Amino acid sequence: MKIKTKRSKNKLGLRGTLLLCALFFLGGFYFSRIFFSQTTSDLRPRLRRDIEAAEGGDHTSRNNAQPHGATGESSVESIPFQILSWKPRALYFPKFATPEQCNAIIAMTKTQLKPSLLALREGESAESTQGTRTSSGTFVSAAEDDSGTLDLIEQKISRATMIPRSHGEAFNVLRYEIGQKYDSHYDAFNPAEYGPQQSQRIASFLLYLTNVEEGGETMFPYEDGLKVPGYDYKQCVGLKVKPRQGDGLLFYSVFPNGTIDKMSLHGSCPVIKGEKWVATKWIRDHIFYDD
Ligand SMILES: *[C@@H]1O[C@H](CO)[C@@H](O)[C@H](O)[C@H]1NC(C)=O
Repeated sequence: MKIKTKRSKNKLGLRGTLLLCALFFLGGFYFSRIFFSQTTSDLRPRLRRDIEAAEGGDHTSRNNAQPHGATGESSVESIPFQILSWKPRALYFPKFATPEQCNAIIAMTKTQLKPSLLALREGESAESTQGTRTSSGTFVSAAEDDSGTLDLIEQKISRATMIPRSHGEAFNVLRYEIGQKYDSHYDAFNPAEYGPQQSQRIASFLLYLTNVEEGGETMFPYEDGLKVPGYDYKQCVGLKVKPRQGDGLLFYSVFPNGTIDKMSLHGSCPVIKGEKWVATKWIRDHIFYDD
């Protein structure tokens, strides 16, 4: 009997220890979970805030719209952009338009194309400038497009630039086929060369309507205020932007003080393979009236 009770006591003692151990283990496990979940939930918003601050703030995810005036907007929108250069001031907008919008613009202008014209300087003639700009193109305004595509694009450009739509010329839709190019030029008209101007082109927004297999880049021969070595205005040497369907490129032709920025010189490299379509929106310093 003695032995039996001793044994059972021993057995119970062993079971009790095991049970205690198990309870202690589980207790510790739950405690650590609670402890860690508290610390991480404390940490996460702070971490996220730090990341947001480092990235310049992801306002859309916080949806912290401000009270706004009559012409303002009720929500926060993001239009992604990348600064390509400060000298000249050039901004890139990936996926600014959808492939469907790009294809619609091509379809509506395809039958209207004519050889692109050149604004002539004093002393220049169509013959003397032959070969400078070899693309075909047409002007089309948002009002002429019943589908509303150009209306949406124009609206988005004005929101990205904060320059009212009334300052924009009609879209100039251009097609460059193999070998076609546009030698380096300014979009702004220097009165010393072109005579007095009613208004000035201050910025250009290019919307690439197609992918180009090879060539057709928009090229800036100046980078960071310096002419890229090896540049001659017909050579495709410089900062190059590869056309990709739906992407936008914005650059400024004048400084904030209105003087023409000599570094805004740019051209279109010859297309080597494929076809380049681009819709250009020239933006003026005054309201633009088409005559
Ligand atoms: C305009 O701004 C540019 C760039 O900051 C500067 O180089 C130029 O001298 C200015 N022109 C005038 C007339 O102030």
